[in-house]
Amino acid sequence: MQYGHFDDEKREYVIDRVDLPTSWTNYLGVEDMAGVVNHTAGGYLFYKTPEYHRISRFRANSVPMDRPGFYVYLRDNETKDYWSTSWQPVGKPLDEAKYTCRHGLSYSVYACDYADIHAEETLFIPRGDAVMLWDVKITNNSDKERDLSLFSYLEFSFHHIMIDNINFQMSLYAAGSSYEDGIIEEDLFYEENGYQYFTADFDPDGFDCMRDTFLGLYHTETDPQAVINGRCSGSYEKGGNHCGALQKNVKLAPHSTLRVIYMLGEGRREAGRIMRKKYADHAAVDAAFDDLKAYWDEKCSKLQIKTPNRGMNTLINTWTLYQSEINVMFSRFASFIEVGGRVGLGYRDTAQDSMTVQHSNPEMCKTRIEQRFRGLTSMGYGLHLFQPEWFIDDTRAKKPFKSPTVIPKPDGASIIHGLEDACSDDALWLIPSIVEYIRETGDQGFADLKLPYADTFVAAHGDKCATVLPAGAEESIYDHMKRILDFSTEQVGASGVCKGLRADWNDCLNLGGGESALVTFLHFWAMRHFVELADELGRKEDADHYRRIMDKIQKVSDEKLWDGEWYLRGFTKSGRKIGCKEDNEGRIHLESNAWAILSGAADAEKAAKTLDTIDRNLYTEYGILLNTPCYTVPDDEIGFVTRVYPGLKENGAIFSHPNPWVWAAACTIGRGDLAMKFYDALCPYNQNDKIEIRESEPYSYCQFIAGRDHTAFGRARHPFMTGSGGWSYFSATRFMLGIRPEFHSLTIDPCIPKEWDGFSAVRVFRGATYEISVENPDHVMKGVKQIFVDGAAAESVPVFGKGETHKIRVVMG
Ligand code: GLC
Repeated sequence: MQYGHFDDEKREYVIDRVDLPTSWTNYLGVEDMAGVVNHTAGGYLFYKTPEYHRISRFRANSVPMDRPGFYVYLRDNETKDYWSTSWQPVGKPLDEAKYTCRHGLSYSVYACDYADIHAEETLFIPRGDAVMLWDVKITNNSDKERDLSLFSYLEFSFHHIMIDNINFQMSLYAAGSSYEDGIIEEDLFYEENGYQYFTADFDPDGFDCMRDTFLGLYHTETDPQAVINGRCSGSYEKGGNHCGALQKNVKLAPHSTLRVIYMLGEGRREAGRIMRKKYADHAAVDAAFDDLKAYWDEKCSKLQIKTPNRGMNTLINTWTLYQSEINVMFSRFASFIEVGGRVGLGYRDTAQDSMTVQHSNPEMCKTRIEQRFRGLTSMGYGLHLFQPEWFIDDTRAKKPFKSPTVIPKPDGASIIHGLEDACSDDALWLIPSIVEYIRETGDQGFADLKLPYADTFVAAHGDKCATVLPAGAEESIYDHMKRILDFSTEQVGASGVCKGLRADWNDCLNLGGGESALVTFLHFWAMRHFVELADELGRKEDADHYRRIMDKIQKVSDEKLWDGEWYLRGFTKSGRKIGCKEDNEGRIHLESNAWAILSGAADAEKAAKTLDTIDRNLYTEYGILLNTPCYTVPDDEIGFVTRVYPGLKENGAIFSHPNPWVWAAACTIGRGDLAMKFYDALCPYNQNDKIEIRESEPYSYCQFIAGRDHTAFGRARHPFMTGSGGWSYFSATRFMLGIRPEFHSLTIDPCIPKEWDGFSAVRVFRGATYEISVENPDHVMKGVKQIFVDGAAAESVPVFGKGETHKIRVVMG
């Protein structure tokens, strides 16, 4: 069953049927003001941080779902009938009212046709201004004048989400509202800068600042009393629950359109006045919208592809890039799943995300990478979850929120968690990220940047903290990288395989002193990247040193981890094998097998067998299972994964994030057919007509899809904020299409299904445009026979000058 379609031209997903089985979300804002919204204009808005600076309220995981939001009600004053521009909250029967929602890149449009009135509401946040615009157009499609009233509605939040949710004896008496000059101001009196406003470009005919007055007792957003009555009451108060309700009455001539702009912004009434003046000029609204479009067009233009796979084209050209960018910006903390009360950047997630959009957002990736290096301990492990500002001098003194109640402050020593909480994979992801960054940008100097470690920084600020270096010590990023690699070299168990510690990539595999094959392979992969960088920088001794360690790992992998047809997942602390042929549960795991191949640690024969094992045992029509058979018997030596319901999340679901590892692995051994089969299975685009099964957005990868052993097999959950966004982009473009930046060239080495005649792509690399066409006359899966640069045969594709455009022809064979 299909609920909508992709509009490639506009880079929009159009939801034609809005009664979706679950919320389909979108992200607004690319700077400080940001929000998450769904297909019925439900959602929340925040400024800089969703933990300390909420602007609007959201009742997460509630019924009715996804409320409140950014609503506009229309009332026909003749018939007294009312509805909303988005289907919810009024929820008119869909056979009487036609509703659509279009999610675009950082904007959403809600449209409805009802009672001969066409209404449209576009939500977006202009760059450069901390304000959310609601651009509303109402068209009278009837032949008679219509007497209408418009009512806006949003519920303000107390800034601090925790207090807003649990400490009402404070939140209800520390927020007040007032109305003046068409502007509602909510003030959070306890806070120095605790002001937000709601206004519009018209002189309101009425207003309400108090939620309960506007809605009315025993009413909800579905049937607000003020809308039923046709008039607001002019409420405001110091204390209580506040809202932004502005009323406009209009007599709309036949076939004419009224356009109004609502503004929900950060700051005092004065800031509202400025925005009101600016956006009362609708040309300024249009310009801001065009500017946002241009911002995304520019990003998308860094790589555009045209292949025989339509789903791949649509996703890579727009949606997967968008998802990956959103992840780098929002780093998991804001969604309808993680509702913003737990901010901070997860070490491993952000380290991986920032590897994936370096061509379209190098600045943000660089910032994220640098933040990660600052969050590294001098022992070489990363802090699993941390706030970047903890380790930056200017912001250290500032506290985001002053509270009259006591909120314990973490001191340095408790910020720097010990080895017992270290995850064995976290920092290893950073090494490929930075090496890829240098390849993409050519910025070799980045490796020389000197930074403190998290612990040396904290120790220098007077907090007691164990460090292996003197307080305040700084080292280059290059040295940080060595410490990361050395940590994994030292933290090995009895078999010589890396210890699992608190967890590896799989949060639910908690091996402690047991061993993780995944981490050993990841260590190998990180060293491969490092060695190439060391060679490039002329650090031969380092390169040789780590090459020797790689040789040792290869031996360990052959002798201890190979199980005949696939690789083990690891060992428990007491030495039991995990993921071996004797196991009845958790016999085959995806992560170690994908990484054995992808890292290059597996030889050709083992790699081919392993891929075959994955294909035969883990592949399903919706993607590749994380492990099989599922665990059903709790086993605390293996970890929490054995207590997760079979077929969900880490226990035998199709966990999306590691799926693209297998595509890349397949490509490293030339299996373009399998890579594409696996790509297509997970591809949300291909499930657009199976929404009764998938339920979630077809334009976003989801964290997981229920596995074969669950009754909801095929149901996807948790969109946007998942490593599958970045990784699917990375694997599809770098491995399947094979377009890979190198230190001094651009490699084009595709691995595609042999049926393909070829494909074309436009890639911007270090400021030059490469118009690439790949031909596959011999119908091979991999192998490049000839390269032509601007018509002349060439050995490789060089780095060109900024602003230049060149034609690259690659002939496979
Ligand atoms: C979640 C976490 C990620 C972890 C994965 C598997 O997606 O954000 O860090 O690797 O689960 O457990």
